Amino acid sequence: MKIMVVGTGYVGLVTGTCLADLGNSVTCIDSNPDKLAVLKTCKSPFYEPGLDERLKRNVDAGRLNFSESLKDSFSETGVFFNAVGTPPMESGESDLSYVYAVVNEFFKTYKELGCTDFKVLITKSTVPVGTGSEIEAIRNSHGITEDQVAILSNPEFLREGTAIYDFFHPDRIVIGSSSEKALDIVQELYGPLYRNETPIVRTSIQTSELSKYASNAFLATKISFINEMANLCELTGADVSDISKIMGMDGRIGKYFLHPGPGYGGSCFPKDTKALVYLAKQLGYNLNVVAAVEDVNESQKKRVMSHVLDYFDNDIAGKTFALLGISFKPNTDDVREASSLTIIDLLLKQGAIVKAFDPEVKSLAQFEDNQNFSIVSDSYEAAELSDAIILVTEWNTFRELDLERLKSSMNKPSLFFDLRNVYSPEKLRDAGFETYVIGRKLLSSSQKITQNG
Ligand code: UDX
Repeated sequence: MKIMVVGTGYVGLVTGTCLADLGNSVTCIDSNPDKLAVLKTCKSPFYEPGLDERLKRNVDAGRLNFSESLKDSFSETGVFFNAVGTPPMESGESDLSYVYAVVNEFFKTYKELGCTDFKVLITKSTVPVGTGSEIEAIRNSHGITEDQVAILSNPEFLREGTAIYDFFHPDRIVIGSSSEKALDIVQELYGPLYRNETPIVRTSIQTSELSKYASNAFLATKISFINEMANLCELTGADVSDISKIMGMDGRIGKYFLHPGPGYGGSCFPKDTKALVYLAKQLGYNLNVVAAVEDVNESQKKRVMSHVLDYFDNDIAGKTFALLGISFKPNTDDVREASSLTIIDLLLKQGAIVKAFDPEVKSLAQFEDNQNFSIVSDSYEAAELSDAIILVTEWNTFRELDLERLKSSMNKPSLFFDLRNVYSPEKLRDAGFETYVIGRKLLSSSQKITQNG
């Protein structure tokens, strides 16, 4: 099939490249000339394992190309994906201006070029329920019928860091539209995955739109829930890693997304939970569970740091911290809503020195001018002459650290705050650290943690 994908962010670029890999002819559109220049050299503008190789393979095979304009091969294209960003606004509402700009340009181009053939306009971006109906109303206002352009919702569930794998092995593909013809075309497009037994759910456009928010909000709920259990473990002497295991053994609960940490981040969970709460409120309904999930997430970032402050009796001025992991999760260079940012900010505001290391994040504009902040080239350099290590993101490289070596270059007593449960408290203690491992072990002087941290 001939396909256009508008927007070359995580979702758009991964979708476009993988659809080309399935043998389709794909044009990815982006209005940013700098981004296009990078893409034309077969390089992804962001770090995503495996993406560069696939980009090159498909460009070389002539199946994937890039353009600034929707017009170029509009006439001969039948399927269009709108995958532009929907960033959050102050109120929590999603900013849909980029989505509607593409929609308006699409219909204008359809009219200008005098098209009469059937096309499908798919919304891939995460949009609040009701957006598809609004797009249909815009189409009608241009005098275009559903027999000419059908609107379809196809939310994306891929995760950063494993995006390519997720594209080819989704748990399900959701397509929502009132046009059976459009649903048939898009089902056929995903045929190779469908034939691999991926279930395809055909539903209404509203259900499809809401399913993405419902799924993300539920996953965020699991994380906030286990984070609260971790906090409770610290107050009771129970061990959260066993609690997660025991809960996960119950098939009704499921073993995924039960890892405690310093709060979830990224471009989806924080934004989507806020947008869902906002949408419900607009409709006169308070989504109490999801609102609490957000609150817990915000306080979790501060709570994990209360252990650090507590140990130093709230005086960390002049102390040096080695911060391991900046990205919001491993295998990405994305720092959007990363808990590390809150943690670094808190440390610097209290006069501490922060030496951070991350395998992919090499600069942080917001802290660039602070002379107490630096990004160093490995974990051992970060630990040198530091008072404490704070492990924030569980990159694999942090699972195999030479703990004795790390400790030997640190100031005494050497502290290790493991916010991701990477090490057992025993292992850290055997290496000579005073330890805090989330939900498992408190530093001896930190027993006075209160309910809200
Ligand atoms: C998420 C959804 O998983 C994906 O389906 C959707 O399309 C986009 O949003 P992503 O943001 O890439 O994907 O990352 P994910 O792996 O879900 O992690 C999100 C955040 O939750 C990270 O900060 C991660 O550290 C945190 N997390 C995840 C936990 O703290 N504990 C867990 O058990 C799982």
